[in-house]
Amino acid sequence: MTGLLAVPGCFACVAAGGPRGRPSGMALIRVAADEAELLTIGVVPDSRRRGIANGLLIELAAAAAARGAMRLFLEVSVANAAALALYRDRGFEEVGRRRRYYPDDSDAVVMAGNPTVISAA
Ligand SMILES: CC(C)(COP(=O)(O)OP(=O)(O)OC[C@H]1O[C@@H](n2cnc3c(N)ncnc32)[C@H](O)[C@@H]1OP(=O)(O)O)[C@@H](O)C(=O)NCCC(=O)NCCS
Repeated sequence: MTGLLAVPGCFACVAAGGPRGRPSGMALIRVAADEAELLTIGVVPDSRRRGIANGLLIELAAAAAARGAMRLFLEVSVANAAALALYRDRGFEEVGRRRRYYPDDSDAVVMAGNPTVISAA
């Protein structure tokens, strides 16, 4: 994470309000020219289903749009029902697949969306 944050165009958003005063979630994005990529997003188990990932996506998509990104890409396992639902809910659409991309041999779904649309609450 520290290494990624040192890369130009990479930045993160951290959500407060987790257990014992810790963060409840975080997401990391990279913007290069007019494209952005969501590198990771996670919410601690005790804080899930409270709209935290949704809020992180809105914040980071707005930041990507402000930096000139026209498209925001991500990859997610076909086996990750929660994340697929989150991304579809936020307006991402499937644009491709990578076969047996993950260590468990599941395919990756490549999704993309317009950061301005995604950041619209
Ligand atoms: C995926 C993840 C980030 C979602 O975080 P979250 O804060 O719980 O998500 P939100 O509360 O913002 O959910 C927003 C919407 O996403 C969908 N969603 C989220 N979790 C879901 C679940 N377990 N099952 C079905 N839909 C889900 C719903 O549409 C939800 O809206 P709703 O609660 O009004 O129905 C979280 O489950 C997580 O950290 N998972 C482990 C890490 C991971 O898989 N990261 C993604 C890698 S690609």
